[in-house]
Amino acid sequence: MTGPLDKTGPADKTGPADKTGPLDKTGPLDPTALRDHGGNLDAAIRTFGGTHGDWVDLSTGINPVPYPLPDLPNHAWTRLPDQGAVDALCDAARAFWGVPPQRAILAVPGASSAIAHVPALAAPGRVHIPGPTYNEHAAAFARLGWQVDTDAAPGQAARVLVHPNNPTGAFHDAPATAPLTVIDESFCDIAPARSHVTTACDDTLILKSFGKFWGLAGLRLGVVIGTPDRIGALSDMLGPWPVSGPALHVGTQALRDTPWADATRARLTADAARLDTLMTGAGATLAGGTPLFRLYAVPDAAAVQTRLARHHVWSRIFPYSPHWIRLGLPAPDHWDRVAGALA
Ligand SMILES: Cc1ncc(COP(=O)(O)O)c(C=O)c1O
Repeated sequence: MTGPLDKTGPADKTGPADKTGPLDKTGPLDPTALRDHGGNLDAAIRTFGGTHGDWVDLSTGINPVPYPLPDLPNHAWTRLPDQGAVDALCDAARAFWGVPPQRAILAVPGASSAIAHVPALAAPGRVHIPGPTYNEHAAAFARLGWQVDTDAAPGQAARVLVHPNNPTGAFHDAPATAPLTVIDESFCDIAPARSHVTTACDDTLILKSFGKFWGLAGLRLGVVIGTPDRIGALSDMLGPWPVSGPALHVGTQALRDTPWADATRARLTADAARLDTLMTGAGATLAGGTPLFRLYAVPDAAAVQTRLARHHVWSRIFPYSPHWIRLGLPAPDHWDRVAGALA
């Protein structure tokens, strides 16, 4: 199918798309070069103008209709978070995700915090991180002296699987494990039946995030599920009170609210289909994704990003692919803006 996205001209070479990334190069991975992210709206504003309020930011996979924030008791702000608040969150997490009784749970300030610390759980060796994927895992392992392999090989001491993967949306249904295995399920709450929480073997660590499905990226809350030993070691690394009182309070309520989660899954699925209709109608091809973000192939992703950015719609492209462009879902009042930018 052809459409407006086939007709875009060359990318604006002054724009943020004009860069290469770690997967374009061979040789050891440079951890600082690995940190290429969505959500960098400030850079878009510097190049294409406007203020934050003028932009529709689709560069992340954050649910645009977040969990409604409850009123917080004053003590959530004023007291140090007590063990009761931590236990309440962990109990709610155990019920929501069906965490088996022998597995421990640690509340963390976002999955990112766990990603940064997990490589220190074992002596550096070789870690298998099938890619392309969310690049903070490789950056964290490389920073601590691990050799990062994108292919499986004998003797790898660790393996990281992003499930479903960001940006492809692919699931790892029968994951091969290594002595230290991490399954990053930050986007898995859109498909709870696919989660490995109830079936993962003992040594596996599973990461969860409140920044995606619940749309509360600024709350900085995540959860790690694993053996009591490894959870204890991670907890020691993070120190006391790693998660704020407000985050514990909001997270506990959100996890107890299964009707909200069910309704949200249905809405995200419908909105993802709506975005696909819009994008394929404009000439893009669906290349993957989850109900929280969609991955499209276009002839020139940088040119499409520039075209959208001129309408103040921000997207995510990838240094390793000239064709992929990823879009999060528009908020209910932003669909017309996106349709207008694609027209
Ligand atoms: C696959 C994946 N894991 C983890 C994170 C970080 O999540 P959090 O906001 O909970 O730190 C992201 C953020 O984009 C991600 O894409």
